[in-house]
Amino acid sequence: MYDIKNHDDVRENYEALCSAVQAHLEDEPDLIANLANIAAFIYHSLDRLNWAGFYLMKDGQLVLGPFVGKPACTRIALDKGVCGAAATQRQVIVVPDVHRFPGHIACDGDTNSEIVLPIYKNGEVFGVLDVDSPELNRFNTLDAEWLTKIAGCISRYLD
Ligand code: SME
Repeated sequence: MYDIKNHDDVRENYEALCSAVQAHLEDEPDLIANLANIAAFIYHSLDRLNWAGFYLMKDGQLVLGPFVGKPACTRIALDKGVCGAAATQRQVIVVPDVHRFPGHIACDGDTNSEIVLPIYKNGEVFGVLDVDSPELNRFNTLDAEWLTKIAGCISRYLD
């Protein structure tokens, strides 16, 4: 139904992914359906991942949203984990080695590196996009730049 093209060139791959995400957000009004497909698009478009998904802010906690990967912890307090740090600091957090991140929450023991990006609604943190890899140091500045674009597409859709 949805064609996921994996381009050899990383930038081309991200351009295609970004376009697919934007098209979905324009065509479908339901948030959960969109987040489910965006998690799947990210997971199947990018290589060397073991988890991709969302945590959504509810009652002052981050609650598990749509994702692809092994079962994960359902709630994260804002003073816990990489997700809590990204949400409270309102920053993209790239973790080259999760074992060196104080307080990292290991939902999947295979995870060795991670990137977490805040998602906003009307300027407030609405949730985070969490992408994990079994490789150390998987995420570089290009990944951060493009995943930030994708998180921005979602934030604009929410506004
Ligand atoms: N590693 C995250 C928790 C979410 S699981 O990786 C899906 C963290 O430390 O916040």
